[in-house]
Amino acid sequence: MAIKENMLGVKEIDCSDGISTEDYNQIDPNILDCFPRQQYPVNLFHWKEDIRVLSPVYVAGRGLDRHLRIKVRDLSEKGLLFFSRNQIEQYTECVACNLDTALEDPNLTWEEKAGLFVNELNRRQGALYAHHLGGHLEDLQRAVGSLCVYLIQDPQRIARLVKDVHADLSVERRRINASIIALAIYVELNKGEISLELLETVALGFLLYDIGMSRLSPLMLGKPQQLTTSERRTMREHPNAGVELLTKLNLARQEIVEPVIQHHERLNGTGYPNKLKGESIGQLGRIAAVADSYCAMITDCAYRTCIPPINAAAELVTNERKYDQVICRTLVRFLQTVQK
Ligand SMILES: [Fe+2]
Repeated sequence: MAIKENMLGVKEIDCSDGISTEDYNQIDPNILDCFPRQQYPVNLFHWKEDIRVLSPVYVAGRGLDRHLRIKVRDLSEKGLLFFSRNQIEQYTECVACNLDTALEDPNLTWEEKAGLFVNELNRRQGALYAHHLGGHLEDLQRAVGSLCVYLIQDPQRIARLVKDVHADLSVERRRINASIIALAIYVELNKGEISLELLETVALGFLLYDIGMSRLSPLMLGKPQQLTTSERRTMREHPNAGVELLTKLNLARQEIVEPVIQHHERLNGTGYPNKLKGESIGQLGRIAAVADSYCAMITDCAYRTCIPPINAAAELVTNERKYDQVICRTLVRFLQTVQK
């Protein structure tokens, strides 16, 4: 596609052979609703089919008056509004505010949708952990709802999310990464038996599994020295603190409570806070335990270095006294597909 100047000196994109969807994508009115009203995040083009050119109609970041807003919407309704894929990042950032719309957006690939879910869940999970407010909970629940629709349509999509987890193993992502790994294992183990409603509840439980940690002092969590005995005791209370928070948030349902209260329990009874053993630890608790331990091992942090994912999973597989082996082997299978 070449750039040419029209009679008014405006540079237009010559699309004599038609518009390549690898270069330019259409913007429909639903997507337009996701953009800020004052200024749009991407350059916009008008597809002039009769002369087969894309003509600039708006430059990203410029102010918008009512006249231009009406013109842009009109073009969008007629299917004549386009943006360049070079600006897909800015576009995705805006679409993320409405994950339901993003889910239906033909301009985003399944990989881009997976990345968008992980980023958005991370942001909304972080806000809820920081403030424990109903508004943040509703935000997170909405994202969980969209994610579950995405997964119910095709459970294989969870593998893309697991791949995305392994693209960023920073400390900031540890919590969301463990939540996604737990959800992936659950979906894999219960394929074909999960209703949308159950999946939404379980996913929320995995996203909140470590919420009790947000009750602990950041000073204590960040200190470089070893914790004192009394600090360790406080630390080991965080699953109970998590359940207290769930009760306050009106979320004390078994599927949500189980990963929160049991993610530090171990099959041989050496875990905490209740030293549960074997069968008394539920499937959701066992999954959360594996996901949490796995992400602790693969995440780099100030006081220890991480180990490669496959070594971490191998370590869990050889520790059958503590971890459920069916769950560990499911994790290993995921890693094999991630590495392909
Ligand atoms: Fe924890």
